[in-house]
Amino acid sequence: MVNIAVLGYGTVGSGVVEVINTNHESINKKAGQEINIKYVLDLRDFPGDPVQEKIVHDYNIILNDDEVSIVVEVMGGVEPAYTFVKSALERGKSVATSNKELVAKHGSELIALAKQKNLNFLFEASVGGGIPIIRPLNQSLTADEICEITGILNGTTNFILTKMRQEGSEFDDVLKEAQALGYAERNPAADVEGYDACRKIAILSSLAYGSQVDYEDIYTEGITKITAKDIAFAERFGYTIKLLGSSKRVDGHIYCMVAPTMISDANPLYSVNGVFNGIFVNGNVLGDVMFYGSGAGKLPTASAVVSDIVDEVKHLHTNIMTTWSSKKLELADISSSRKRFYVRAEGRLTERQEEAEAVFGPVVAAELDGISGEFAFITEVMSEKEYEEKAQKFHGILNRIRVDK
Ligand code: HSE
Repeated sequence: MVNIAVLGYGTVGSGVVEVINTNHESINKKAGQEINIKYVLDLRDFPGDPVQEKIVHDYNIILNDDEVSIVVEVMGGVEPAYTFVKSALERGKSVATSNKELVAKHGSELIALAKQKNLNFLFEASVGGGIPIIRPLNQSLTADEICEITGILNGTTNFILTKMRQEGSEFDDVLKEAQALGYAERNPAADVEGYDACRKIAILSSLAYGSQVDYEDIYTEGITKITAKDIAFAERFGYTIKLLGSSKRVDGHIYCMVAPTMISDANPLYSVNGVFNGIFVNGNVLGDVMFYGSGAGKLPTASAVVSDIVDEVKHLHTNIMTTWSSKKLELADISSSRKRFYVRAEGRLTERQEEAEAVFGPVVAAELDGISGEFAFITEVMSEKEYEEKAQKFHGILNRIRVDK
């Protein structure tokens, strides 16, 4: 029997307990021995819940109990998670976590500590909810040099953008719905401003390139400026708007960014809708591969956490994680990255198309019935710097969105 302790009985923590109880028999069979939840750490009590008899309020009870081999950290946030996880590893306990903030900030250090102690620090649930992506990067795609990772990495924003497109709903109402469904972060800005996706692409890039990608270095733009008008114009041009986290190797430089992007149905991420996440990976020998599934929510996330627990039970004293070095990976300045740009501007198309082409070069432009006094156009490929320079010379720009294939 292997004893585990779950830190946090919130959405994911209660999901972990539920998954272990629901699939007890098959999980134990796959793990090779029985997994016993000995403790659940939470500040609260849960009278009437069967978990109550396992609740402790003092982490030291878990830390000092040598019968606990695995600590499952599902509290979220950097502190006290970091202190708890580090001390667990120092005391000879493996750790499974869903905490992307922790992994993005301290991943390289905690992976190295686990390796040094012959333990494991696993974090499948930190990116893509229930989608296996960390394990594939760690175990299945090791023959490749990774050239690109582009993903819809945040379920809440994908849910919002999908609903806005399908139902014409307002941003705030859909956000409330996503929160009620348990998809959203406690602080909505983490989802809608792109910070959550930023941490996730930082983790994937660090793993893929083997060096620390600091999330603070990643250009990040959220979806709060996307309006129903932009969604209508995107449809008119044959595109949908997705919040993409991307990391690309171009001429030996790594460009990394999070931004709303218009994509066409030629892009495999086009049909990733609702709370689903999709992660596209290109390797230099494999070519393209795509991962798709439930990107947020209690049980999908818990499923990924429990898969890590099973792996840790199977490898109690064998480290299985590829490291990423603490050496910082210098990202290229996005000002030289090249793409097309969608621009929505004040005025009539008939009156301003010539001016738009004089400033931006050839454009594909449109006006829409029902949107008066505004028009939109898509430029040809240019660098971010060139776009910024041209945009200075064109008055009345209301929004601009990057356009990918
Ligand atoms: N708030 C996150 C999301 C949860 O919406 O994707 C999963 O990390």
